[in-house]
Amino acid sequence: MRPFAIRRSRQPVRRALSPVPLKGTMFSGGDTLASPVSVTRCRKAHVIVGVPKEVKGDEYRVGLLPVGAEELTRAGHQVFIQRDAGEGSGLFDEEYAAHGATIVDTADEVYGQAELIVKVKEPQPSEWPLLRAGQAVFTYFHFAADRALTEAVLASGVTAVAYETLRDQRGRLPLLTPMSEVAGRMSIQEGAKFLERPQMGRGILLGGVPGVEPAHITVLGAGIVGANAARIAAGFQASVGLLDINMDRLRYLDDVMPPNVDVLFSDRHTIRDQLGRADLVVGSVLIPGAKAPRLVEREMLGLMKPRSVIIDVAIDQGGCVETSRPTTHSDPIFIEGDVVHYCVTNMPGAVGRTSTYALCNVTLPWALQIANLGIEPAAHKLSPVAHAINIMDNEVTNLAVAETFDLPCSTRFAQADA
Ligand SMILES: NC(=O)c1ccc[n+]([C@@H]2O[C@H](COP(=O)([O-])OP(=O)(O)OC[C@H]3O[C@@H](n4cnc5c(N)ncnc54)[C@H](O)[C@@H]3O)[C@@H](O)[C@H]2O)c1
Repeated sequence: MRPFAIRRSRQPVRRALSPVPLKGTMFSGGDTLASPVSVTRCRKAHVIVGVPKEVKGDEYRVGLLPVGAEELTRAGHQVFIQRDAGEGSGLFDEEYAAHGATIVDTADEVYGQAELIVKVKEPQPSEWPLLRAGQAVFTYFHFAADRALTEAVLASGVTAVAYETLRDQRGRLPLLTPMSEVAGRMSIQEGAKFLERPQMGRGILLGGVPGVEPAHITVLGAGIVGANAARIAAGFQASVGLLDINMDRLRYLDDVMPPNVDVLFSDRHTIRDQLGRADLVVGSVLIPGAKAPRLVEREMLGLMKPRSVIIDVAIDQGGCVETSRPTTHSDPIFIEGDVVHYCVTNMPGAVGRTSTYALCNVTLPWALQIANLGIEPAAHKLSPVAHAINIMDNEVTNLAVAETFDLPCSTRFAQADA
């Protein structure tokens, strides 16, 4: 059973980097820790896996659980984790050390030694100089949103293995799903909070009480985020309108959702009607690869009740409400048209422990495959890994990223699309 009690060690375990090569680790020429071979082309190599502490603001997740350190070391690899990397998720150094990881003090040491970096967010500008040619970096990148990041990673010579484009045989994006599940469930929790009067909301209890009607919650988009939001909202006894344009999806959800969820086709009239009734609106639409469709225009806020709340989860794709603009966990809301807007772009970061477990549950099997096989053999053997590689050997290998920045695209993994 996973330990849940969060405790802080008075004397954190610290293991110094060994000056001699550790058993089972593969090194190039000089056989020193400072000169590891590249993970890029090694098959069955024993690789050094590095886990840095995240440096992006409001980010409390970490790229590896203690059980991940154990699985990787059991497979013959070494794990170097930066001191306090798991602290934001309530995972402390001694847990990692007890399961085979080596704790190192700085990000320089992690990036300097590791052949495979496993983390959460895209490398920040302070991390760019630490990236080394021949290294593979397995994390969220979202290159299309950031030209400077794309250019820095291209110049570094690392292989960028992006969680968000790892696509399985059924076309799903399994490393994005858990964060949508977290954001969907959390949207109702945040909505409940900001509907409270001291938090600027209407002063509404989601479930009502006997003799007082419950809140009405409208969920725009019935994908992963929307279905999770609707299920939690229903559990609060709210009345829920769940809207989508995909009839197959609506038919399925009509079968499985509780009776206080009305599954509705999303058109302008239905949206206007729902806005007039809603105390809380959750924006959860997505058109893959495109900006979110604008379903709520500025003047439509006039249909809404004073101090009702919009949680625009789709804000990371531009938002589905015209008046939305990105906010942060430290300053999550603003009021416009007398409606409270919550538009935090990295919602899962606030529930770091849940999100870390949810993310690592799905990333670890792939990290193990990449470490065991080497990134290039893994890409040739496993098409999801080929899809995940966005940049390799100073070339873009993902067509969407290349098209976004008008860059040439290598066809080395083109057969993965077949
Ligand atoms: N803010 C955050 O922290 C955070 C976290 C996770 C996900 N997200 C975002 O949430 C959004 C939803 O993600 P998801 O995983 O649920 O996507 P999804 O693909 O599973 O679901 C999107 C749904 O939107 C529907 N849709 C498209 N156009 C529509 C329209 N005009 N009206 C109604 N429905 C429409 C689609 O049919 C689909 O069912 C994405 O933009 C994602 O990036 C944000």
